[in-house]
Amino acid sequence: MSDPRAARVMAYHARSKHALDRYAAGPGTLDWEAQPAAFRDWTGCTQTALPREILVSDIAWGEIAAAREPLPFDARSLGSFLRLSLGLTAWKEYAGSRWSLRAHPSSGNLHPTESWLITSQVPGIADGLHHYQNLYHALEHRAWNDGTSAPGVWLGFSSIHWREAWKYGERAFRYCQLDMGHVLAAVSYAAALHGWQPRLLRLDSNKVAQALGVDRSEDFSGVETEEAEVIVALHADANPPDTTWQHYAGTPSLLDPRPLYQWPVIEEVAAATRGALPATASAAQAIATHTDASDIRAAQVILKRRSAQAFDGVSVIPHSLFKRMLSSLLAGGSPVWQLWPHTPRVHPVLLVHRVEGVAPGLYVLPRADVVESLGSALRDSFSWQVADDTLPLYRLVTAQAGKTARTLSCHQDIAAHCAVTFMMLAEFEAPIAHDAAAYRHLHWEAGMLGHILTLEAEAAGWRGTGIGCFFDDADHEVLGLKDAQFQVIYHYAIGMALDDARISTLPAYA
Ligand SMILES: Cc1cc2nc3c(=O)[nH]c(=O)nc-3n(C[C@H](O)[C@H](O)[C@H](O)COP(=O)(O)O)c2cc1C
Repeated sequence: MSDPRAARVMAYHARSKHALDRYAAGPGTLDWEAQPAAFRDWTGCTQTALPREILVSDIAWGEIAAAREPLPFDARSLGSFLRLSLGLTAWKEYAGSRWSLRAHPSSGNLHPTESWLITSQVPGIADGLHHYQNLYHALEHRAWNDGTSAPGVWLGFSSIHWREAWKYGERAFRYCQLDMGHVLAAVSYAAALHGWQPRLLRLDSNKVAQALGVDRSEDFSGVETEEAEVIVALHADANPPDTTWQHYAGTPSLLDPRPLYQWPVIEEVAAATRGALPATASAAQAIATHTDASDIRAAQVILKRRSAQAFDGVSVIPHSLFKRMLSSLLAGGSPVWQLWPHTPRVHPVLLVHRVEGVAPGLYVLPRADVVESLGSALRDSFSWQVADDTLPLYRLVTAQAGKTARTLSCHQDIAAHCAVTFMMLAEFEAPIAHDAAAYRHLHWEAGMLGHILTLEAEAAGWRGTGIGCFFDDADHEVLGLKDAQFQVIYHYAIGMALDDARISTLPAYA
């Protein structure tokens, strides 16, 4: 690979693979007492509590796609939106331990993503850059300038790699990026409920870092750094915000006073994947309404979303839900594809265990015109039988694949006891050779797919769980892949959850 950045990404990807006989480099020991702090404080900033009321609690899940009058931007509407996208949804308690959950899942519940809000002329909120402190559902005023600029609201995101690297070592960069995809999907759903049309800005990473103030090395001296990810405009006219900050306030807290290990390859791959988003190839499509969706409230679906920690191993997914989940992964199937109107490059391969009317086995759902290239890359013996009358779903092989799914997913029972295990298969080498930043974007797309599956399942009384731990090349062997043209970058399980009655639930904000 001639581009040194792309070569670095490919080398990182290879060394961060888990294999049946060797896990990617990670900490030899974990001191759970020394886990990095889950929340970063910005001391010295003015903190403004946001209203907590959910303003869109009447909208049914099946109505999420309906056109609606956008709510005006103000402290109330942004408070409502932030609760449904990035806020805490519950506290959990068991055996003296207490931990919080959020509207989006995160690998190991470590939540590396930090959220920022940039506002101009929003009633009830000072102009400038704010850190969203989800612990208190409050804004911390981090930077501003003296002038007045055009009205608008933007969200920004950065990742604190150490939160994930503390536990997962070198593979952690991948998890930060998958989490980012979940976050962007969560933003899409919450924005749709408020009638807003979010757009990702095509800004270079350096510009994003400057806008979010995470490039100020003087402020981050002695504490964990933050890697700039992306800025999202919450309105359709996606001009960048004016971020010529003249004043800064606050200092970020240290999350881990005694880091035991270092994983320099994470900073290397982060540097190699900086860049801007690709140009949009396709126009955003209107979202189809699911006529058969339940009338459960969308806000309730979002607030009660949890990852299943165990599945029952017997329940069969109704065919209608299976079809609804798969169609929401296709263009026009979810508000997420309005935020991400790029040509799809991640194509789910399904290990179907228990779906009404669908024979157990291995299936593929090409989300773009890749049947030919997939056909020549995947195992020759696959049958490619058309498996649905409306969806681009193909059966590759009929088999009971529960044990295989468990083995491939780092021997986790959830992959066998769920009803379907998804393997997110990404077009890989070519997009990265073209632009190394694609490595991040492929993981975002995979995270978005997982998030959509989770919410569709949740709305119907089922549950999902992300599976970041899988044996990469064992997957590729099952699929017959011989090179890096395609790579599996995420697993996802959907099934009927078994709840652990010993864990008690407390409100997110007392
Ligand atoms: C990228 C990613 C990878 C994950 N990997 C696993 C996994 O390998 N095994 C597992 O049991 N859960 C996994 N999870 C689920 C998380 O443990 C879960 O999201 C977290 O504990 C927070 O709980 P919640 O989703 O209920 O809020 C993963 C989640 C994400 C987003």
